[in-house]
Amino acid sequence: MHSIDSLGEFAVPSRHYSVSQLSINERHKLMERAFVGLFRWYVDRSQTTRNWNPDRSFDWKNMRQDHSPEVMQILEGFFAVEQYIPDYSAHGMTIMRESYGRSSFHLRWGMEEERHADLWRNALLFSGQRTLDWVEDYTDQLRGQEWGLPWDNPCHMVFYTVFQERATQVNYLNLGLAARGEESHEVFANDADPVLAKACQMIAVDEAAHYNFFLEGARLWLYYFPERALEALADVLRHFTMPARNIIPNYDAFGELLHRTSIFGLRQHARDVVKVALENLGAESLRKIEEGIRRSREIPNELGKIRTSAIFESLDFSHIENRVKQMFGRVNRLEAEIGVPEEQVTKFVLNPELQAHFAAL
Ligand SMILES: [Fe+2]
Ligand SMILES: [Fe+2]
Repeated sequence: MHSIDSLGEFAVPSRHYSVSQLSINERHKLMERAFVGLFRWYVDRSQTTRNWNPDRSFDWKNMRQDHSPEVMQILEGFFAVEQYIPDYSAHGMTIMRESYGRSSFHLRWGMEEERHADLWRNALLFSGQRTLDWVEDYTDQLRGQEWGLPWDNPCHMVFYTVFQERATQVNYLNLGLAARGEESHEVFANDADPVLAKACQMIAVDEAAHYNFFLEGARLWLYYFPERALEALADVLRHFTMPARNIIPNYDAFGELLHRTSIFGLRQHARDVVKVALENLGAESLRKIEEGIRRSREIPNELGKIRTSAIFESLDFSHIENRVKQMFGRVNRLEAEIGVPEEQVTKFVLNPELQAHFAAL
């Protein structure tokens, strides 16, 4: 097994090496470096392109005062989901505090999620249909419950967050369509509102950025720890539910309304979340992933290489590798602009196991 100190030698094309030359520690170290680079790239982009403020960036005093009861109920639900930021932040941190890049990102992410709670709070208050007392009471009621992590490890959580962020983005985009008076359900016929439309658009862009960060993280897991990551991906897909749905009062009525008005339901989840995210992860379907895992389990443990090959067939790893390389390219361009010295640059290192697998095809 190679020590972490010898990591530098792997920064050259992997065809010179045989299978299994990256130890577990080396893979973790590569992931850590990548997450730090990705975090810095993310912050740079966030500050230059998405530096909005939930108070000043919106013309709240001109928000419509006569939104439909359906829009009001949806705003309450969105507000409720974003009210558990203290739990999302605190509990998430317990499983990643040791990782510099991931914990730094988690803080930044929590800060951006906090402004989402503030944004929906403003939407409720400026709607003219909810009093400050009502919002405060509802906040107390929500905060009386505590959200817990759906998974207890960073690998499962990164996949969970990929689907959760995408689902949240789709919810906000679809309410945005209603607020723009476009292609939406008849109950929203009188809900066109440029102020609400802008709120939906700004917050959806944040959720898209979150989705992309976690997607890059998920690809890193798939690239350096394919077996573990694929099992996590399959687990998360089998058991996925939106955060806090079991603790938000009347969530079922909110969920039913989202479904009935085509803002979000099983169809949107399958078509706009799962299918899109799986494509972005180089996967075809849960069935294909499960098939690969099952086939790999049928192979005896002592034939480790064959076991690994079986699992590689359930995913398009050349797609993963290309996307991981592109992510490093973006990080490296930022580092070049900053003037990061060559020896400190975030270098992409091929996974020799994958290279050997593809070379053997
Ligand atoms: Fe959010
Ligand atoms: Fe988010």
